[in-house]
Amino acid sequence: MTALQPALDITLAAPFPPDFLWGTATAAYQIEGATREDGRLPSIWDQFAATPGKVFDGHTGDVAVDHYHRMPADVALMAQLGVNSYRFSIAWPRVIPTGTGAVNAAGLDFYDRLVDTLLANGIAPLATLYHWDLPLALHERGGWLNRDTAYAYADYAETVGRRLGDRVGWWLTHNEPWCAAYLGYGSGLHAPGLTDMPSAFVAGHHLLLAHGLALPRLRALTQPGTQLGISLNLNPVYTADDLPETQRIAEEVEIFNNRWFLDPIFRGTYPDGLFAQFNAPPPPVQDGDMTLIAAPIDFLGVNYYSRSMVPIHMGTNPVGNGSATVISSEHQTDYTDMGWEIYPPGLYDLLHTLHRDYHPAAVVITENGAAFTDVLDGDGQVHDPRRVDYVRQHIQAMARVIADAMPLKGYFLWSLMDNFEWAEGYNKRFGIVYVDFATQERIIKTSGQWYARFIASQRGTAE
Ligand code: FCB
Repeated sequence: MTALQPALDITLAAPFPPDFLWGTATAAYQIEGATREDGRLPSIWDQFAATPGKVFDGHTGDVAVDHYHRMPADVALMAQLGVNSYRFSIAWPRVIPTGTGAVNAAGLDFYDRLVDTLLANGIAPLATLYHWDLPLALHERGGWLNRDTAYAYADYAETVGRRLGDRVGWWLTHNEPWCAAYLGYGSGLHAPGLTDMPSAFVAGHHLLLAHGLALPRLRALTQPGTQLGISLNLNPVYTADDLPETQRIAEEVEIFNNRWFLDPIFRGTYPDGLFAQFNAPPPPVQDGDMTLIAAPIDFLGVNYYSRSMVPIHMGTNPVGNGSATVISSEHQTDYTDMGWEIYPPGLYDLLHTLHRDYHPAAVVITENGAAFTDVLDGDGQVHDPRRVDYVRQHIQAMARVIADAMPLKGYFLWSLMDNFEWAEGYNKRFGIVYVDFATQERIIKTSGQWYARFIASQRGTAE
């Protein structure tokens, strides 16, 4: 492993509270590999990735970054970075391989060991129960289009809660249900690859129902004070002019990108006009569903990468999973390797709007980060000054949020290490740790060194 470089400027006006969570984030299918080991059965992503043309260059998560076998070393890497928290996801197809029924002890054991290893290193675990890897067996019974999947999910959540609830203090039911529903069932860019908007709304409703059903069951199995939430990918919408048509489109984009999931969770209703925008019927909402879905959460997880600009160059972003991000044709600015505009003030604006309109009890930034074309230099280092700037500027935006006394509790950088970036395969690197995919060697990038120093300065542990 590389030694941390001295003299990386961490100067930043940053009045963060001492218990602020400074972490990194990952997801099971993106890092674990070992897809056929210890009783794990396929998920929709195994099938999707194996389908020609779906993922860049036919890449799959079969090996990923081999985290399943390298977990202790990866936790040691986190300890070296000095993070005090880590967001990971649990693979449903490892824990209950056929989606319902028999629990696979070996699968649960892995997460049990991970949690213990984190705690032994002073790293607080934040577990995501669903980061898109639906057991294939459930997909064969309709997947998220089948209401039963929501009940199966609640059973799965209870199984995990029963095993880890004594030690995990932070939980997310879902990661980005917008992506799971829209990219999975509407645009087809993600697994299971359907292209039907009415189905996307049905899937979205069942994802929300699953969240609502799981909350009380997790509460019953976790310690007092445990924080339960959900992560949404959100992007603030800006307009480049005052034309009525621009305002109208902006409103539609806001409803589709942000309010589709925010409104049910915080208000117990779907926003007017959401389904009509797509000439789709409303999803099958049964009595009591919206009450379950709107049960109070302890924190909202916000995944922020970029903003939307109207008028737009609509259509989805041609690359990756960023179709939430609408690329501006008007603004000449800086973009990441995903084609996502770099716009740190958007994080501040987004959090302000959220607090004004939805009053979440607390917010955690559960993802923020950037892909760049990182290369291993002759000196054996990976210099990524653009990622350092990206992270620094977003932390600066958070400092303004804290200064405004909004309840922001943590920041999880996406990602701990380069990994399988969904439809982009290994072609996009988001890590603050570089991974040589051929050898699985990990090398802390300049951004990782910067983050380590910054955290140390915040925690008062800087040399
Ligand atoms: C988010 C996903 C995460 C990762 C980042 C770049 O949409 O939650 O898994 O792929 O984008």
